[in-house]
Amino acid sequence: MVKVGIIGGSGLEDPNILLNPTAISIDTPYGQPSDHLIQGTISGVECVLLARHGRKHDIMPGNVNYRANLWALYSLGVDVIIASTACGSLKEEVAPGHLLFPDSVFDRTNSRKATFFDGTFSGAPGVSHIQAHPTYNEKLRQVLISTAEKCKLVHHRTGFGVCIEGPRFSTKAESMVFKSWGASLVNMTMMPECILAKELGIPYATTALVTDYDCWKDEDQVTAASVMKVFAANVEKAKTLFIEAVAEIGKIDWSAEIAQTKTAARQSIMISPD
Ligand code: ADE
Repeated sequence: MVKVGIIGGSGLEDPNILLNPTAISIDTPYGQPSDHLIQGTISGVECVLLARHGRKHDIMPGNVNYRANLWALYSLGVDVIIASTACGSLKEEVAPGHLLFPDSVFDRTNSRKATFFDGTFSGAPGVSHIQAHPTYNEKLRQVLISTAEKCKLVHHRTGFGVCIEGPRFSTKAESMVFKSWGASLVNMTMMPECILAKELGIPYATTALVTDYDCWKDEDQVTAASVMKVFAANVEKAKTLFIEAVAEIGKIDWSAEIAQTKTAARQSIMISPD
């Protein structure tokens, strides 16, 4: 049966969504993950939960050890990963409180370790030229969309986010430019998690929880406090979504999807013949 990894963004690190939660501390070749991982079940499906920023939310987006987080989930044998991430909206119709299931992402981060294949670990030899399109696993994305529909959660089926380095929010000029690019979202954690999951051959999809209109709308100015306030008010939606989505994921045969993702990961690696 499939084992599901859940990466909880700000506010979604509650182990109470799992039955029989057990904490597991893990070290990885890439260092320590953000916190211990919590293993348990949802609707009889084995799950592993990880708080991206740590359970105390004391790790800023640029300092999250994304590689250790992903490697820890991989070493516990998760087959697929669903994640959540707080985002600002760049479109009027994508309002705070809505969910959006991104189909791509524009990477504006500049100081994150974004590959396992950087020569620091002998278990990951060579160079990985992983395909970044499609960024998210479409079958998982569709499960999240149909679950949001079933749970009557207001959501958007498509759109891409711009992932900024942070920890500061965008300037108005940046926000206007991202908006003019056609992006629906701006956020600080969409990268490089999705790419690292690809390198490990793990199907991955994310859920954007919209918390604000960034700063392009004159009457709305994003602040840390406003983000956390809206997130707290909406976190139950994401929890409901994940509990229901895991039950659905458990009913599906993922073997072909997983095999295809693993093959793509393997074929992306170039190793010198000498
Ligand atoms: N996370 C939540 N809202 C955000 C915003 N406006 N910009 C970047 N990251 C965010």
